[in-house]
Amino acid sequence: MKSGLIVITGGAGFIGSNVASNYLAEGRRVLVFDNLSRPGVEKNLRWLQERYGDRLQVEPGDVRDFRGVLQAVRDADEVFHFAAQVAVTTSLDNPLQDFEVNARGTLNVLEALRTSNPEASLVFTSTNKVYGGLRGQRFVAEGRRYQPLDMGTRAEGISEQCPLDFESPYGCSKGTADQYVLDYARSVGLRATVFRMSCIYGPRQFGTEDQGWVAHFLIQTLKRQPITLYGDGMQVRDILFVEDLVRAFRAAQSRMDKVSGQAFNIGGGPSRTVSLLELLDLIEELTGQRPEVSFEQWRTGDQRYYVSDTRKFQAATGWAPRVGVNEGVKRLLPWLEEMLEGPASRHSVPLREPVEPLVG
Ligand SMILES: NC(=O)c1ccc[n+]([C@@H]2O[C@H](COP(=O)([O-])OP(=O)(O)OC[C@H]3O[C@@H](n4cnc5c(N)ncnc54)[C@H](O)[C@@H]3O)[C@@H](O)[C@H]2O)c1
Repeated sequence: MKSGLIVITGGAGFIGSNVASNYLAEGRRVLVFDNLSRPGVEKNLRWLQERYGDRLQVEPGDVRDFRGVLQAVRDADEVFHFAAQVAVTTSLDNPLQDFEVNARGTLNVLEALRTSNPEASLVFTSTNKVYGGLRGQRFVAEGRRYQPLDMGTRAEGISEQCPLDFESPYGCSKGTADQYVLDYARSVGLRATVFRMSCIYGPRQFGTEDQGWVAHFLIQTLKRQPITLYGDGMQVRDILFVEDLVRAFRAAQSRMDKVSGQAFNIGGGPSRTVSLLELLDLIEELTGQRPEVSFEQWRTGDQRYYVSDTRKFQAATGWAPRVGVNEGVKRLLPWLEEMLEGPASRHSVPLREPVEPLVG
């Protein structure tokens, strides 16, 4: 008998809380497993608790703790594994911790499912960083952005055919996890799929210089603080509004027989791209403010161009993104304004203490 339970590791985070809210709003039961190590995410949890009460179950825990993970996933119908060390910069400072959380943590989730609940379906969020610097592609500067020389790539983006080339400890740990998930589908028969995601943005993201750059740029602008651009600001990304991502997750879960054992590039695609400089232009247009900008050296693992070719996933599920860059940024702004201005006391529901992260 199916339990109907949705389990989300990292469920207090940006993407996790959006997915949780989507299911909870339909009356489904959701269990969030999170160690609350990302600053700010406790606000997401309070927001979910205030809105959905008892349908939300919160299990404070760390994916490095196998028993905790086993306990969390054993009654799940659908599992989303989002808990991760999410920043390339942090992975360079502490590669062992990065590996423990991202690689070992994912193996814990897979082993917990294999041994206790092999019928559950799993979506894992990998990253475009598994394709490294896109060796073999050449890019030229045009206006305020880089463009691929190859016209096919320019039209469609980077497909899953691109050779894997893990770069940075984060790229290696997420890439390892990505390959384990695919292999557990192949060798063990788990129902599991991998999303290799580009930049996701939207409400409930506490963006920083290290991760979540769209939100970070907006936050700095609203706070009248400067921004450092690493590189020349012409690097291009496709950006996907979180609401579109949630629809993609739902499409994957409901067609798991079709998507299991496969990896998909997921992002806004060629029609939803922006360079860092272009985003600053858009922010100025929307807010009338342009933050002070300084430039530093390129950072490890920073691709000059990355745009997802999402045609494989579109063909498998019929999904397509709906929210354009302008609309998405416009919709993110009021949430950030409220988050920056709103009194902390508005969130009155007490939280359990965060679990201390295990030493990596
Ligand atoms: N946001 C993006 O643009 C993007 C792009 C590519 C991939 N991803 C992947 O998507 C997933 C979710 O990202 P996000 O943007 O929501 O990040 P996030 O930092 O907002 O959420 C991650 C959550 O995991 C929790 N967490 C961290 N370490 C943990 C641990 N050891 N045990 C339990 N919980 C832990 C954090 O407290 C946080 O709530 C991550 O796996 C990330 O690598 C995100």
